[in-house]
Amino acid sequence: MYGGSKAFFYALSRSAALKRLASKYGMATPDSFARRFIAGETIEEAIRDARLLQERGVLLTLDYLGESVSTAEEATEATREYVRLIDVIVASGIERNISLKLTQLGVDVDRATCVDNMRRILDPAARHGFFVRIDMENSPYTDVTLEVFETLWQQEYRNIGVALQAALRRTGQDVQRLIALGARVRLVKGAYKEPPTVAFQHKAEVDEAFRSLMRLLLDRGTYPAIATHDEPLIDDTRAFATDRNLARDRFEFQMLYGIRRDIQATLVGDGYRLRIYLPFGRQWFPYFMRRLGERPANLGFVLRAVVKER
Ligand code: FDA
Repeated sequence: MYGGSKAFFYALSRSAALKRLASKYGMATPDSFARRFIAGETIEEAIRDARLLQERGVLLTLDYLGESVSTAEEATEATREYVRLIDVIVASGIERNISLKLTQLGVDVDRATCVDNMRRILDPAARHGFFVRIDMENSPYTDVTLEVFETLWQQEYRNIGVALQAALRRTGQDVQRLIALGARVRLVKGAYKEPPTVAFQHKAEVDEAFRSLMRLLLDRGTYPAIATHDEPLIDDTRAFATDRNLARDRFEFQMLYGIRRDIQATLVGDGYRLRIYLPFGRQWFPYFMRRLGERPANLGFVLRAVVKER
């Protein structure tokens, strides 16, 4: 079943022992396995990779990894790190675009704290011309994520957008709502294991939903981001945009750092806008495990790398 490996790797991602082991080997050397998907543990490493990517003609969004914090102090600390990231990006001259998660900024502590933390980030971000994308987490957070987003939108923040997941049955309605606001949507398939009541369970259903939401967003959305590595869906997007005579600056493709670099190069070579999601930070383990869950064959290169390093 489509979600089986996601559930398996999600369960593993809760293991403290595995996390300790991965933390020991995952980033230790320039060849360590986690570096395939993660720029490094420091801002400086992320900026270095960002420069290399920019030289290849891609756009960027930087993500300071972290999620599921349970205290106001941790949320404040993550907020401070994002504000510092904004300063470092400005000083470095790389592109001004960041992604973040609300559970990193205290939405589990309380919503008001999270909104305050978002404003602490959005104010300097707006001053310096940044765009800030809110990632979408698992379905218990869909409502609250959209509510926080709309609260900020009502407060006239316009340098924000949000991700929506094609796998969720509700997403058709959420897309319509965000189109009506004029907000920018990143369309993804959805990285989390979800119950059948909430989400499609088979790849074919998720792909079909993605295809129809992609069309809706290209027709009526505001600068949508089509975020997938799925070649047939990328081809469909290209064909649909051509059919609709849509200029190439009216939407963008997005992909994750380290995945399908061949397609990345083709898109850039063909003159499309492509943004790479570039994650960094010490809290890389859950993000890394989601990447394994999407493609269990990735486990092979991890095991080979560990054996080599020992
Ligand atoms: P699918 O999983 O069907 O894979 C299609 C093909 O892509 C595979 O056959 C393989 O070639 C390649 N591929 C996919 N994943 C791979 C991997 N891990 N390793 C190697 N190859 C792989 N999710 C979410 O829930 N909330 C969010 O906010 C975001 N944000 C986000 C931003 C960006 C820029 C991207 C590209 C993706 C996300 N995602 C996300 C993740 C998304 O939901 C989804 O889990 C992954 O993109 C994998 O799905 P694909 O669309 O690539 O299709």
